[in-house]
Amino acid sequence: MRLLLRLLCCCLALAAVTLAAPEPELRQAAEFGRLKLACPRGKGARSAVKGAQIDWYLNGQQKLLTKPAGTLRPEFFTDDSRLKLKNNRLVLRNIQLSDAGSYSCLISEAGPEQSPQWINYTVVVSEEQFYDFDLPEIDSQYMDGYECGWEEEEEMGSQTGEETKPYFANKDELRRMQAVPLGDPVTICCHIKGSPAPEIQWLYNGRPLSESSHTVSHVEVGRYSLFVPSMRQYDNGNYTCVGRNLLGEVSHMTYLEANAPPQPHPIITRAPRNVTLVTGERADFVCEVTAGMHSQLDWYWSATAAPGAHVTKLQDGGRFDISTKQRLVIHNVTLNDTGFYTCIAYNTLAKAHARAYLTVLEPLEEIPVPLAHSRITVILSVVFGVLVLAGIILVARFYGRMRLERRERERAVEKANAFHAMTKKVIIDHQNMLANGTIVAPTIRIERCKPSKEGSVMSAYELPVDPGWEIPRARLQLGKQLGEGAFGRVVRGALDGSAKPNSSVTVAVKMLKEGHTDAELMDLVSEMEVMKMIGRHVNIINLIGTCTQDGPLLVIVEFAPHGNLRSYLRERRHTTGYERAFDHETPTVRELTSFAYQVARGMEYLAAKKCIHRDLAARNILVGENKTLKIADFGLARDIQNNEYYRKVTDGRLPVKWMAPEALFERLYTTQSDVWSFGILLWEIFSMGGMPYPSIPNVEKLFSLLREGYRMERPPGCPQKLDDIMRQCWEYYPNLRPTFTELVEKLGTLLTSLAPQEYLDLGQPSPPDSGDSSHDVSVDSQFELFKSTAM
Ligand code: ADE
Repeated sequence: MRLLLRLLCCCLALAAVTLAAPEPELRQAAEFGRLKLACPRGKGARSAVKGAQIDWYLNGQQKLLTKPAGTLRPEFFTDDSRLKLKNNRLVLRNIQLSDAGSYSCLISEAGPEQSPQWINYTVVVSEEQFYDFDLPEIDSQYMDGYECGWEEEEEMGSQTGEETKPYFANKDELRRMQAVPLGDPVTICCHIKGSPAPEIQWLYNGRPLSESSHTVSHVEVGRYSLFVPSMRQYDNGNYTCVGRNLLGEVSHMTYLEANAPPQPHPIITRAPRNVTLVTGERADFVCEVTAGMHSQLDWYWSATAAPGAHVTKLQDGGRFDISTKQRLVIHNVTLNDTGFYTCIAYNTLAKAHARAYLTVLEPLEEIPVPLAHSRITVILSVVFGVLVLAGIILVARFYGRMRLERRERERAVEKANAFHAMTKKVIIDHQNMLANGTIVAPTIRIERCKPSKEGSVMSAYELPVDPGWEIPRARLQLGKQLGEGAFGRVVRGALDGSAKPNSSVTVAVKMLKEGHTDAELMDLVSEMEVMKMIGRHVNIINLIGTCTQDGPLLVIVEFAPHGNLRSYLRERRHTTGYERAFDHETPTVRELTSFAYQVARGMEYLAAKKCIHRDLAARNILVGENKTLKIADFGLARDIQNNEYYRKVTDGRLPVKWMAPEALFERLYTTQSDVWSFGILLWEIFSMGGMPYPSIPNVEKLFSLLREGYRMERPPGCPQKLDDIMRQCWEYYPNLRPTFTELVEKLGTLLTSLAPQEYLDLGQPSPPDSGDSSHDVSVDSQFELFKSTAM
């Protein structure tokens, strides 16, 4: 019996010890970071044990601090400036590796019946990671203080007798999204009042928090707040507070997101370029990488760019010179050297690559002129010579013969080339054009094969014919060049009407330049296919037709008579002199707003078609008849892996200035990164074609300013509401930016307020001067500073 009693006593003692010293909770902290340890844990940390004494210990013996019994003071400090007690939480800043250890808190409540309670934590400290850049402080008042502003008031009691439906006592504290660095604490404040006092419930992704096993163990739910002591990736999600009483209910949803610190990655600042050489020549590819990233660089060759293609790592030596890593030189190129050359820059954290295509051609052989032709030429020349004066005869005969021979030779070379190259068949694979719900270019392959149409007019490539879009070449007359890029050009064209015999319509025709590569042809085919998929909208450049057979590929699109929006605006800046053309009236604020509205409409359409533009800028917007704006180049294939940060466009501008931070730093392009670019485009419109970030001297400076949260100022004369919209488009976090649908709505409302009777016509072109312009706020007065801001 005694033995049994003893055993019982032992068991009770053990149970008491176990209860008094529960399992330590493991907490991870980052070196130089911050940590908060609650005592007691869970819901009661803020308000409970007001009367109790709290002692904190490190590693069992080192006393860190004491909060005396009976005090209501929320904060206590120690000799160590990094350490304090705030609202019953031990706060440790600027954590060092040596701070790792076991932290214990002893709660000693007054009264003989209360037994002391231990709360234990094991703290591990991980070494600091190299941060490429600091995340901007979002909602820092909530990330730092943990308290929602109303806490004091609540503790003192603030109930009134009158019956009221639940309502938010402090709407300012409600957030649609809170972004928190991984491992940091965060509080969602949601103060719902009402009478009778509403019952508060928290939902995680629409379901009661209690049903979410991972979250419930981790978060602390207060009466009007939810506290996550250390944000983890799987805590991401929608948190909803719901307040209900007899009279009704209110709810608010906040999206919490833990951000991993962005990893530094090597950035290719100058990428190798496609080149066509003749055997025996020297190839020279350059691949420059940002300095200071400690990255390695290797070169690879592959015959194709298809996934899974065999890739060979190039070694320095022989004909290949890679002695200066950021440059690859191939001496005496041969036909076998044709293919893709890829440079891969990498460090321990990330890699970046860029590639270029080398085409090697055989030198053109002298093709003998057919004998019969040559004899005819001689005879003709002689006959011709006999008819004119002796002296002139000799010169003319010689001159004529030379010209004819050259023409014949050129024709023969063309035919021979065409015959050899015609063995290239273009295959378009329409599967997988939607990946992750986003339009991606179709897969295009080129295969060598025998020409299927012998004796027809020869062409370098054989493309599949699409009867819905094919237009006979004879209906098209090409005119002057409208623009050109590195590989292609756009010319004006006249397309004969098929219905009316003598009518023609002006069109723009996209084509490749001579000497283009297979890859460039594939890009144009892909653009054509994307345009077919997207369909028609008044605010985009629409596809009219294609010429794919018996000649070079021609993509026929709508012609915009007033050129690109940037030049259009610059040519119409307010001037006092005589240099402006008579029809170049300075646009009114309402017209500028309508430009913004039209682009938003076009982008709303493209976004609905899951098309991401990736280069939305005034230079890529064309001005059509009746000031109808049309988004161009939305189908262009873009090598997003190959961020050429220093690439300039023809007008000398750096496209990186239009890029959203996530596109710039993580190559993440979405419709919301297009919204950022739309914000820059708004700035361009309201600065009448100004240069964004005019005072920023280089790309590095732009990077650092964006990281610091710098944004451009409001252009002179720009209405405040438009400036507000720009700033919304430049929210650092993509989800916080408006959608294009919201932008259409906002800009539409603004247009209505400027001239209600005119904005409805905007989608459809209206006849010139049909509107009542008496409501126009002349930009002459509002934009008087444009001249001085010419950049
Ligand atoms: N330049 C490039 N594309 C054009 C187009 N569609 N219309 C007018 N000019 C252009």
